[in-house]
Amino acid sequence: MSEIGISMPNVTVRGPEAPRNLESLDPVFQVEDLSVFYGDYEAVRNVDMTIGNREITAMIGPSGCGKSTVLRCFNRMNDLIPGARAAGKITYHGEDLYGDHVDPIEVRRRIGMVFQKPNPFPKSIYDNIAYGPRVNGMKGKMDDLVEQALTQAALWDEVKDKLKQNALSLSGGQQQRLCIARAIAVKPEVILMDEPCSALDPIATTKIEDLMQELSRDYTIVIVTHNMQQAARVSDRTAFFTAEVDEAGVRHGRLVEFDETSRIFTNPADKRTEDYITGRFG
Ligand SMILES: Nc1ncnc2c1ncn2[C@@H]1O[C@H](COP(=O)(O)OP(=O)(O)OP(=O)(O)O)[C@@H](O)[C@H]1O
Ligand SMILES: [Mg+2]
Repeated sequence: MSEIGISMPNVTVRGPEAPRNLESLDPVFQVEDLSVFYGDYEAVRNVDMTIGNREITAMIGPSGCGKSTVLRCFNRMNDLIPGARAAGKITYHGEDLYGDHVDPIEVRRRIGMVFQKPNPFPKSIYDNIAYGPRVNGMKGKMDDLVEQALTQAALWDEVKDKLKQNALSLSGGQQQRLCIARAIAVKPEVILMDEPCSALDPIATTKIEDLMQELSRDYTIVIVTHNMQQAARVSDRTAFFTAEVDEAGVRHGRLVEFDETSRIFTNPADKRTEDYITGRFG
């Protein structure tokens, strides 16, 4: 264990206001001075953060502060938005994620995404899971693969007798677990989740939260959430973003503070974080 203040090479996590060293962080992503533009508009400015292996990292902050924008950079989903551009650097296991030789399709296989609104394909439950592995030419018995993914997503028992049924016949919570199973089926390393519970009731939300804890044994998870209790309950580290207005009156998303979740929620370094988590702002 190193004492606070002792610098650990390559694992320093920087918030603009309060540089701190986190212990035993095994970095999967390192974000250095990331700014993201939509055309000329700089939506997010100068973000530095590190995502730890098999940790759950939560991104919180008021609407429009750039959480989804930053999340989409982790699997190059922003590439699909015309005019979107990232400046700065994101490394994935030390390699430049935006390097010339990097195949964005392979990036998105390794780094999966689950969205706010469950979005199963209008196909059978089975085919929703089998689709990705087929497209990726994965070997192995498909039935086993489907069962494995549904089991990992805590959905198998509920659907095992109706695999041929259309996925759209499932409840919202079941559809979201199906989408998580679909993400898992292509054997990613990282799962990105953008407000995965915001369309779900409290019971379905609890199931997804339990599932995230379970999955974090095998996967690195980054979650955007508006629910601060959720961030506090599930995550190891939390990044708090806000929007700042510059001299010209333009709003830019900024990372205010990034730290262990327990610290963010009990003893934040920045007044703006404290105001947000205590509900005084946002
Ligand atoms: N496709 C896009 N084209 C242009 N501007 C965009 C696009 N997507 C997001 N923006 C802008 O970038 C800024 C950050 O948006 P983003 O969606 O990342 O915020 P957010 O923190 O995820 O908000 P919310 O909590 O409401 O989902 C906003 O000003 C938004 O209008
Ligand atoms: Mg968003």
